[in-house]
Amino acid sequence: MASPDPVVEAIFDAVAATAPEIRAALPGRRVKSGTDNPSGESVMAGDLYADELLGDALTAVDGVGSFVSEEREAAVDAGGAVGSGDGDAYAVAIDPLDGSSNLRSNNAMGTVVGVYDAPLPATGRDLVAAGYVLYGPITTMVVADDSGVREEVVEADDGSVSRSVVEDDLRLPDDPLVYGFGGRVPDWPDAFTAFAREIEDELKLRYGGAMVGDVNQVLTYGGIFAYPALVDAPEGKLRLSFEANPIAYIVEQAGGAATDGDTDILDIEPEGVHDRVPLYVGNGELVDRLETALD
Ligand code: AHG
Ligand code: MN
Ligand code: MN
Repeated sequence: MASPDPVVEAIFDAVAATAPEIRAALPGRRVKSGTDNPSGESVMAGDLYADELLGDALTAVDGVGSFVSEEREAAVDAGGAVGSGDGDAYAVAIDPLDGSSNLRSNNAMGTVVGVYDAPLPATGRDLVAAGYVLYGPITTMVVADDSGVREEVVEADDGSVSRSVVEDDLRLPDDPLVYGFGGRVPDWPDAFTAFAREIEDELKLRYGGAMVGDVNQVLTYGGIFAYPALVDAPEGKLRLSFEANPIAYIVEQAGGAATDGDTDILDIEPEGVHDRVPLYVGNGELVDRLETALD
């Protein structure tokens, strides 16, 4: 395994260090904050809390030059030019709380992190690492870099936070078992509905309404997750910089594939940091079939 990038390690140390605090803060933050985010979605109190904590933690990491969040209009300058050559800094993009509509129903949520070696917006090819925290019954963190993908358990012990690797080479299983597709069926384009009808005969439905939780099922059991293009929303729901690119990077490093229906997610050229994109991600043969079905 290549020696880990110390800045990437420091970034994921910082993310792990916030996780127990974010989890502990959620019980009192299951309500709307009263504001909307740059995507025009209602922001929960938990979203704001996670965004502030992660913003403070990540901008304090040496080697982070810029910080962008799903919950903030503009990038935060954290010092150091991003992508400018030797000794340059990274841009970190986060979805502080993915699946925060699950706060009310107490279901899975996560934090998504992308570490880009270029000023944002950038393509996923500029990612040097990506990861997510999954707030399930156990707090886990999945981290991908050019050496592969690992799963860790994050625990708070006596004021410090430990990261324990539980799987050091996470790969998508060859035989897929599960699928989860977002959006309302009547809003799906006909070609996607026809593909879904085939998949329903082959795989088991696992959909929890938080991309991180649903993608973690696919990484664990094999299969396909999608938040598709919708008839009235051809760009789908998920955001390229904060959600689709980091997830595509992780799944591709684990041996899978990710597409917007036509193009590898990592090759998409964004216009703005809050751009949305349809996301179809999972085992390569299923993603290939999906691309053929949507042609
Ligand atoms: P976020 O909470 O960061 O806005 O993301 C929610 C996303 C994603 O987690 C999930 O796949 C999708 O929205 C679910 O959308 P619906 O609730 O519309 O199904
Ligand atoms: Mn999200
Ligand atoms: Mn979010």
